[in-house]
Amino acid sequence: METHSTLFRLDVPLGDRSYPILVGRGVLQHVGEHLRALQPSQLAILTHPQLAQWYGEPIVASLQQAGIPTHLLPVPPGERTKRWEVVGRLLRQMAQRALDRRCVVVALGGGVIGDLAGFVAACYLRGVRYVQIPTTLLAQVDSSVGGKTGVNLPEGKNLVGAFHQPVLVLIDTDTLATLPRRHFRAGLAEVLKYGLIADEALWHLVRAEASSLRQGQSERLEEIVYRCCAIKARIVSEDETEQGVRAILNFGHTVGHALEAVEGYGRLLHGEAVAIGMVSAALVGEVVGVTPAGTAEEIARSLQALGLPVTLPQGVDFARLLQVMARDKKARDGQVRFVLLERVGQARLPVAVNEEAVIRALSLHQQKFVQRTTGG
Ligand code: NAD
Ligand code: GLY
Repeated sequence: METHSTLFRLDVPLGDRSYPILVGRGVLQHVGEHLRALQPSQLAILTHPQLAQWYGEPIVASLQQAGIPTHLLPVPPGERTKRWEVVGRLLRQMAQRALDRRCVVVALGGGVIGDLAGFVAACYLRGVRYVQIPTTLLAQVDSSVGGKTGVNLPEGKNLVGAFHQPVLVLIDTDTLATLPRRHFRAGLAEVLKYGLIADEALWHLVRAEASSLRQGQSERLEEIVYRCCAIKARIVSEDETEQGVRAILNFGHTVGHALEAVEGYGRLLHGEAVAIGMVSAALVGEVVGVTPAGTAEEIARSLQALGLPVTLPQGVDFARLLQVMARDKKARDGQVRFVLLERVGQARLPVAVNEEAVIRALSLHQQKFVQRTTGG
C-alpha cells in the first residue's frame, strides 16, 4: 500500500464533539481504515454519479470487504440538489435500508454534497454521525469544517439547516486533479480570504504561489489547505454557532451573496462572487476610514493573478444590490453590515455601514477596476 506523501493533521477542539482533519495527497488510499475505525453498523455515501464512479466505488469495495454494508446514494450535481425534497428522498432511502443509530453518513463531494449530507445526518434518527470527504477546493478549505449544514428554499439560500459537526474530515488534495479549473480558482478566493482576515503570512504565500495555483497546482497546496483549515478550526472552536468572531469568515460575502442573488445563482460561482465582494468590502473599509488606502487595489491585483474576476458585472443595479444586502441573514434591522479589514491579516467584526458609504464604495469599484485577466 502506498503511504501518504505529507500528511497534516489537526483537531477541531469542541469538547465531546471534537474531531480530526487529515490533509494530504493520497489520503483516500487509506479511507477504508479511517472509516472502519469508527465501527459503523452501515455506511451511506452521498455523492454525485461521476464522483461515485471515480472515488466512491473503491471506498465501497474496501468496506464491503471488511463486512460493513455500504450504500452509494447518488444525487445529481448542482445547487438545485441542495433542497428540501432531496433531503426527504435520501432520508427515506436510508430508512428503507434500515440504517440504525450507529450508521455513518459520508459526504463525498463539494459544498453542495457536504451541506446536504450533513443536514441529512443531523435529521436522521435525530442525529447520526457523518464524515466529510471534500473534493472541491472550496469544500476542502471551508465548507467541510465547522458543521454548518443545510439546504436552500425557493425564498433564499441556506435558509434551513442545523449546526451538526462531522466526526472526521478527510481531505485528499489529489481529488482536485479532476476538478474543473474554474471551480479550483473559485476556491482560491476563499483561500485568499483566510490570509486577509487572519494570516498575513498565508496571504504572502498565496501571492508567491499565484502563477502555479492559477494553473491548479502548487507544491505548497497541501500546506495551504491545511493552514486554511487551521484558521477555520480555531475560529469555529471559539465560536461554534456564529455569535461573534465566526462572522469574520464572511468577509467579502455581503456583496458576494447579493451578486449571486441578483445575477442569478450559477452565473457567478460562489468563490467568484466572493472575489468581487472582497474588493467591494475593502473599498467600503477605505471609504469609512477603517482599511488603509490602497488595500482594495492590492487585493484586486492578487485575485487577478489567481485568475479570478474583480469587476462588478456590467450594468449591475446598486439599488437592487442594496435591497438584497439589507435582507441578508447578517443584516440587522434592515441595516447592511460588513466585515472590514483593519489591515491585511486582521479583520474586524461586522459593523453597520450607511447606504451612502456603500454606494460610494460600489461607484469607486465600478470606476477603478476593469478586468485584466485572460484565460489559461
Ligand atoms: P459544488 O459542490 O456544487 O461542486 C462544484 C462542481 O464540481 C459540481 O458539479 C461537482 O459535481 C463537481 N466536483 C466536485 N468535486 C469534484 C472533483 N474532485 N472532480 C470533478 N468534479 C468535481 O460546489 P462547491 O463550490 O464545492 O460548494 C458550493 C456550496 O457550498 C454552496 O451550496 C454553498 O452554499 C456551500 N457552502 C457551505 C459552507 C459551509 O460552511 N457549510 C461554506 C461555503 C459554501
Ligand atoms: N463559511 C462560513 C462559516 O462556516 O461560518
